[in-house]
Amino acid sequence: MDVIAFLGSPRKGGNTETLLNEAIRGTGMDVRVFDLNGMDIQPCQDCGDCEGTGECTIQDDMQEVALAIRAADRIILASPVFFSGVSAQTKAMIDRCQQFWCEKFLLKKPIPAGEYERRGLFLVVGGMKTPSGVECAGTTAKAWFRSISVPEHKTLAYTGVDAMGAIKKHPAALGEAFEAGRALIQP
Ligand SMILES: Cc1cc2nc3c(=O)[nH]c(=O)nc-3n(C[C@H](O)[C@H](O)[C@H](O)COP(=O)(O)O)c2cc1C
Repeated sequence: MDVIAFLGSPRKGGNTETLLNEAIRGTGMDVRVFDLNGMDIQPCQDCGDCEGTGECTIQDDMQEVALAIRAADRIILASPVFFSGVSAQTKAMIDRCQQFWCEKFLLKKPIPAGEYERRGLFLVVGGMKTPSGVECAGTTAKAWFRSISVPEHKTLAYTGVDAMGAIKKHPAALGEAFEAGRALIQP
């Protein structure tokens, strides 16, 4: 089973990364993690090149990401809430998946499910107590999973988690992330 993960927070050892590491530990697998902050992923230019081909023509690290998304059986997306949505690092990668949207909805060629089906997990952490930020981020994640032919995903969302390391003081978050990782790899 091929499991990949995206880390959308720039804060090293921050709340999102801590949560993601627990989920990965729960899988018990060797998960390939794309640390988006350190990658060269330019924003989508809406050039339309992918409309007829399902392929993006921008040459950067997204080529490698796209191959990994295509091959994966399980995909974990982890992002902090930044201004009521996913982080810019996360959103740039998501927007570049327009190539998969075109392939699926214009060319009628969804990414085929392999032996294990395709399933996802969305981890999101917001500093404010109100749920609107994680909800907006969740809407984006839902559209993304659908476009990359991941028909089913679970979401773990935590609000009021702001300071560095605050997630470690949350009464349930780390255990829930571990369990979600464990559940993710079940057939
Ligand atoms: C640029 C920026 C924008 C933010 N905007 C929001 C927001 O709109 N809503 C919210 O709940 N938290 C917001 N936060 C707080 C982060 O979501 C919070 O600190 C989170 O725990 C960061 O996760 P990390 O440690 O993985 O980076 C923002 C933080 C930054 C740096």
